[in-house]
Amino acid sequence: MLVGFHYPWSAARNIVSMSKHTTATFREAHPEPPFWRVRFEMLNPPRPGCFLLADFGAPLREVLFPAALHAEGFDVLVPPGHPVQRLLPGEAVDLLGPFGRGFQTEQVERLLLVAEAHLLPPLLPLLEAAPMVTLVLAAPTRALLPPAQRFPPAVELHLITQDGSVGYAGTLETCHNADSPLLEAVQWADRLCASCDPVFYPKLARIVRQQRLNPPSNFAQVLIQVAMPCGVGACEICRVQTVNGERRACTDGPVFDVLDFVF
Ligand code: FES
Repeated sequence: MLVGFHYPWSAARNIVSMSKHTTATFREAHPEPPFWRVRFEMLNPPRPGCFLLADFGAPLREVLFPAALHAEGFDVLVPPGHPVQRLLPGEAVDLLGPFGRGFQTEQVERLLLVAEAHLLPPLLPLLEAAPMVTLVLAAPTRALLPPAQRFPPAVELHLITQDGSVGYAGTLETCHNADSPLLEAVQWADRLCASCDPVFYPKLARIVRQQRLNPPSNFAQVLIQVAMPCGVGACEICRVQTVNGERRACTDGPVFDVLDFVF
């Protein structure tokens, strides 16, 4: 992952504000360990994998991925202590967006979701995006996993814990043995969407190549979660290295084909 900074901020802000400025209304927030669930009302919320940039008073805007979409707007999941908890019901939040290239799951029958527990929220809107959904979810230990009852009953859940406290013992990185739930699920799926540490994606790309021989483009779509302060390709903070050279997460992603990371 490359990081740089070469752009006049005032110019970037002007470009964005002309086209993508909007607001959402804060409705309520409540704990949903290990996160807080925050509900906003908004017309035209972002599609899964796309994002908004919110002004919570910090020097840089914050990336918000929807964790749930509903008739009036969207929910996000934020860590405890997040500044959104200081908002009052009915308060307007200044937003830019939606931005980015999101997940494509149209006409998918068997959808495989792969996530590390702390990066799971942007995948949650996809839990009912296909007739059959399998979720492979990894965490260091059982206590850092969300309770199984939070997921729709139709979702097939495979857990991986580093300490073996529940599910398969290991990590996504080491999940390449024949009995691994990940390998079998990659063979089963006709679309894979992942939200993990990007260091795992070259390994995931190799697993996809091994299990699928000639996977079609976009068979495996992976989300890159990095700082994206301008959202329009102007500041270059979000550059990522791919087989096709440098790309910007905010405009070329943040969802990429995993095969872009087979070096
Ligand atoms: S967020 Fe500025 S270039 Fe991507």
